[in-house]
Amino acid sequence: MSPRHPVLAGVGAYLPPRVVTNDDLAVGLDTSDAWIRGRTGIAERRFAGAGTSTADLAVEAGTLALKSSSESEADAVVLATATPDHPLPGTAPEVAARLGLAGAAAYDVSAVCAGFLYGLASAAGLIAAGYARRVLLIGAETFTSIIDPADRGTAVIFADGAGAVVLRAGDAGEPGAIGHTDLGSDGTHKDLIVVPGGGSRQRTSGEPAGPRDHYFQMAGRDVYRHAVERMSGSARTALEHAGWAVADVDRFVPHQANAKISAAVADRLGLHPGRVLSNIARTGNTSAASVPLLLAHAAADRRLRPGHRVLLAAFGGGLAWGASTLVWPDVTALTEG
Ligand code: COA
Repeated sequence: MSPRHPVLAGVGAYLPPRVVTNDDLAVGLDTSDAWIRGRTGIAERRFAGAGTSTADLAVEAGTLALKSSSESEADAVVLATATPDHPLPGTAPEVAARLGLAGAAAYDVSAVCAGFLYGLASAAGLIAAGYARRVLLIGAETFTSIIDPADRGTAVIFADGAGAVVLRAGDAGEPGAIGHTDLGSDGTHKDLIVVPGGGSRQRTSGEPAGPRDHYFQMAGRDVYRHAVERMSGSARTALEHAGWAVADVDRFVPHQANAKISAAVADRLGLHPGRVLSNIARTGNTSAASVPLLLAHAAADRRLRPGHRVLLAAFGGGLAWGASTLVWPDVTALTEG
């Protein structure tokens, strides 16, 4: 039987060109550069302009990841996003078609900021089950389409962007082989991160739609606490499966929710702060796009190098979380923006 272990073979990232600084946001919001930097680590972020959708960003990142993998083909396209182009159909089929992959399996994965880890498990599973030999996995978001620009608790944090990886069938022992991916959820806290309107729950509630129901809402304090606990727990489980001690981890790639959350998770794990990668200062929180964006940016500027043992972890609405491991392979990351 030909090998069926999912192996990372390419990585790409795309950020839309418009840079929005903290000072830009402070013009219309009661906030400040000092508050945003101090509480989140964010200095600037990118906003996609009107007319640019999640599919548009996904196509850019997907093109770069395919190019990075030196092949233009894939049997499946998995798109992790919480901001699809439409409530239906899924956005992935359009992305696949625009990449010249019409006919490939294509579907969206919805797990908010944990979306990339859920997508990774799904894409890896397609290969392990023999359904696909090559999968393009994209995390893409236009969070500006659901953020209330008047809500200073969220408007300063979330932003737009896309990152992508190519997985191919290979051997478990080679660099890039994806380790066991730990996933978990706790729907009893579903209201901590929610867009209340637009779904069947609103229709059945009997209440008329409110003017802000289509906006993203977050209980930041509670989310922070759960994020630290779940990301560190999931990371520990992924490490156990890999047979790695915490000291074996060369680079930690956490979902970029908040620089303080990343530091707190590293602290709980007992991981040296110098091994924690970050790009939140220039990207903000890009939800499902954040992990592949960080992989691509860090590989491009050599903070992430072949042979590094990498721990990935993410957490988001649902609640949902996940973690995985891999040894970084010799790939050329392609980034734009
Ligand atoms: N600028 C200035 N002040 C702000 C502000 C802003 N952008 N946003 C909130 N505040 C104020 C609040 O109104 C509150 O004021 P008060 O004390 O007068 O009531 C004060 O700052 C503290 O608010 P709080 O929400 O408790 O702040 P915090 O220290 O918890 O930081 C977050 C807020 C959102 C940065 C933090 O909770 C966080 O990062 N949570 C996790 C969010 C996240 O990662 N979500 C995605 C998960 S995938």
